[in-house]
Amino acid sequence: MTLIFATHNQNKAMEIASQLPFSVELTTLSELDYHDEIPETGSTLEENARIKSEFVAKKFDENCFADDTGLEVESLNGEPGVYSARYAGEDKNSEANMNLLLKNLEGLENRNAQFKTIISLFWEGEYYQFEGIVKGKILKERKGNKGFGYDPIFQPDESDSSFAEMELGEKNKISHRARAIEKMLKFIKNY
Ligand code: IMP
Repeated sequence: MTLIFATHNQNKAMEIASQLPFSVELTTLSELDYHDEIPETGSTLEENARIKSEFVAKKFDENCFADDTGLEVESLNGEPGVYSARYAGEDKNSEANMNLLLKNLEGLENRNAQFKTIISLFWEGEYYQFEGIVKGKILKERKGNKGFGYDPIFQPDESDSSFAEMELGEKNKISHRARAIEKMLKFIKNY
C-alpha cells in the first residue's frame, strides 16, 4: 500500500519511515518530483495539517497524510505554537528560532513546554485527525547535535537528555510525532 507523506522535510520522513510496517510504502513529495512549497495559511495546527494533506491527496489522487507541529511554551502563553517554523522570520531558520526563544525566556522561572503534532489523514476519501504530545522543558542552552529544529533545547520529562542527544529510536519512543503516527497506524491497521 502506498501512502504519501505531504512533506519536504527528510528528517521527518526518516523518523516516520522507521515506524511503519513493511506493508506500507511511504512516498514523499520529493520522490514524486513535487518541489513547491504548500502554503500554510491556517491559523491552527489542525488547519495547516488539513490544508497540506487535502491539497496533496487531491493532486495525486492517493491516500495521504500531513503533519503540523508546534512548540508550546507555558510562560509565553503557548507561543511560538503554530508559528514555530517562522518564529524568528520567514526564512524558517532553526538557529535563529532557538536564539529568539532562549532570549524570550531569559529571567523566567517556568520553562515548561510541549511539542504538539497534528496528523491529518485523507484515507479512502475521508478525513481523519490524530494528535501527539510530549511534555518537557526548554533548556538554558543547546545540548546535542542530532535531530532538527528545536531539538537541542527541548528535554522531554521522560529523559535527562535533550532530543538532540537521542538516537532516532530513542526519540521515536516518546516524541510528539511518533505518538500521533502510532495512532494513525492503529487506525489504518484496523480499517
Ligand atoms: P512544521 O510542522 O514542520 O511546520 O514544524 C514547525 C516548527 O517546529 C519548525 O521550526 C520545526 O523545525 C519544528 N519542529 C517540528 N518537529 C520538531 C521536532 O521533532 N523537533 C524539533 N523541532 C521540531
